[in-house]
Amino acid sequence: MSTIYQATASAPVNIAVIKYWGKRDTKLILPTNSSLSVTLDQDHLRSTTTSRADPSFERDQLWLNGKEDEIKAVGRLATCISEMKRLRKEYEIKTQMNQRYSFPQFHIASYNNFPTAAGLASSASGFAALVASLAQLYTLPASPSTLSLIARQGSGSACRSLFGGFVAWQMGSDPSGNDSLAVQVAPQEHWPQMHALICVVSDDKKGTSSTSGMQRTVETSPLLQHRIKYVVPERMEKISKAILERDFDTFAKITMADSNQFHAVALDTEPPIFYMNDVSRAIIALIVEYNRLSVEAGKGYKAAYTYDAGPNAVIYALEENIKEIVQLIVSYFPQRSGEFKDVLGLFGASSTDL
Ligand code: PMV
Repeated sequence: MSTIYQATASAPVNIAVIKYWGKRDTKLILPTNSSLSVTLDQDHLRSTTTSRADPSFERDQLWLNGKEDEIKAVGRLATCISEMKRLRKEYEIKTQMNQRYSFPQFHIASYNNFPTAAGLASSASGFAALVASLAQLYTLPASPSTLSLIARQGSGSACRSLFGGFVAWQMGSDPSGNDSLAVQVAPQEHWPQMHALICVVSDDKKGTSSTSGMQRTVETSPLLQHRIKYVVPERMEKISKAILERDFDTFAKITMADSNQFHAVALDTEPPIFYMNDVSRAIIALIVEYNRLSVEAGKGYKAAYTYDAGPNAVIYALEENIKEIVQLIVSYFPQRSGEFKDVLGLFGASSTDL
């Protein structure tokens, strides 16, 4: 009887405050700018992946939320799997290990503990969990940054989900992609007061995928060129400093400015891309007014909105203000006509606190 080798790993979703938008190499997924994100709480919004290897398996197979999904021969999933196999081979050669663990084929099952249709990116947590589970199965002593090089080739933003807390994806400059990896700016414990609220405005599938949207933006937007060269490098430095100094005012200003510029770049694309809707814009107006009143009262910024490639708002705020913000949002957007689906609190504040 043969032994079955199996390993399970999980990874959370991350939400960028400096947005990644644009690839300089579409095959290796090398970005046109560095980015920075916050990895969300340990329990909510996670992907959990179990990989199994058995000599009797005839081919690699994948099940997503219990349903088999095709592994396309030249797709990103196949790339990640073959990169992990290559890493294992290198490790065997380096350690002069015999090849009894060199499993030829995998069966992989991945689950998201949040609805895949919730309009929240599951590819980041999904690819991070996949790479982490294969690393565990292969007993690779690889650092999260090394694994981020492989997760990046599944979905760019996935490289940041290999760390908790505040994470930078350094764009790198090497054409091989070997320096385009994730590093931790600070662990979650450094600033535990930081919370995130996710306001699910719509769970519709987004109209323009990030892959095709980015490609169109790179090809047509003059504003993107300005952003890459003159805006992002300075913002990366300033927001990293703000995180290290727990300076919420600066963190909030940069986060909102970067979300605005990402959506401006989408609008600057030919033909234009619109990811936000009227409810998204109404939430922006509410947060702007809320901050204005707070600054006037001498209390500084209290909330920072950010939007990815869709209409759902993520609001970063310190724990002491979360309750007030949730009440504010719920009073302005009572859940009506499917327009405003859910307010899900993370980093401790749960939807039951509403
Ligand atoms: O990794 P992708 O292809 O899902 O792209 C993510 C792009 C944004 O979510 C809009 C920004 C980001 O940095 O996560």
